Amino acid sequence: MKSDFGTTKKGEQVSLYTMKNGSGMEIAVSDYGAVLVKVLITDREGQVQDVVLGYEDVSGYESDTLYLGATLGRVANRIRGGEFELNGVNYTLTRNDNQNTLHGGRDFFNKRMWEAEEVDDSHVTFLLHSPDGDQGFPGTVDIRVTYTLTEENEIKIHYHAVPESDTLVNLTNHSYFNLSGHASGTILDQEVVICADVYTEADAQSIPTGELIPVEGTPMDFRAGKTVGSEIEVDYEALRFGGGYDHNWVLNGSGYRQAASMYSKKTGIGMKVFTDLPGMQFYTGNFIDGKEGKDGVLYEKRQGLCFESQYFPDAVHKENFEGPIVRAGAVYETTTTYRFYTD
Ligand code: BGC
Repeated sequence: MKSDFGTTKKGEQVSLYTMKNGSGMEIAVSDYGAVLVKVLITDREGQVQDVVLGYEDVSGYESDTLYLGATLGRVANRIRGGEFELNGVNYTLTRNDNQNTLHGGRDFFNKRMWEAEEVDDSHVTFLLHSPDGDQGFPGTVDIRVTYTLTEENEIKIHYHAVPESDTLVNLTNHSYFNLSGHASGTILDQEVVICADVYTEADAQSIPTGELIPVEGTPMDFRAGKTVGSEIEVDYEALRFGGGYDHNWVLNGSGYRQAASMYSKKTGIGMKVFTDLPGMQFYTGNFIDGKEGKDGVLYEKRQGLCFESQYFPDAVHKENFEGPIVRAGAVYETTTTYRFYTD
């Protein structure tokens, strides 16, 4: 179902696309930024909970600085020094995070109108034409992001891009989940599992050093599952640098597999994350500071968390990291799924 989501400051008409499956799960996405706006699930008590942070209409997304629900690219996460070399040519990007480039650096993908190219009851495909030089990256590329709501209560996000020349592509979704409901307060009491034996060490500016650190015996170990808050305040360098969890985990295995899960004891709502990508940024909303969201709720620190599937941050500068170079005519294609249940 297509409904009005407001008008941008430039006068563009923005739509909200709502999908509902047979068991009553509902999601809404918008052609402004290809953002995920709502995820409605019935909890253990029969109450409907909206489990992602978001804004009431497009004006919230226009003034957003937290990347709520955002589709991010050309290269999500950080590129050290805001520059890189490809085929002997140096490219300069915008430095928007210390001396580094974060989530594209400028003209963010979540601040543009995407074309709703294909729409039906269970999926929407958004198309963005990204020209040569966009954000400083070479190569024209058409980017397609498809959100599908399945009968298995999954939100499947499929990304597809074929660049006309060699370039970098690393797309992700930056939804903040709170399985007790977006208005319920912090996520510190919710349980998380991350299927990773190691994480990528990073410096004080969150740029990977290239070292892979075993999680064993550290607060970064989520393999057996624990509440987000159980060790977040431990005096550990990585947690000090990130102000909490804000790191890339090296997901175990390869191919499409489970990466993580999350559960709220309060509502009985659980979620499993699947991806075919090698890494995942687990970010606990450490920098949220009093932003007004849906239903007039004020979002504060750690009231939502992100599972951002990705190539490792700054991979372009690391020989031991895969990606994110995509050659001319090659198909960049990846899928990340968030599967929900209530018990
Ligand atoms: C980054 C955080 C950043 C956040 C923006 C995450 O992907 O790792 O450092 O603050 O995005 O909301």
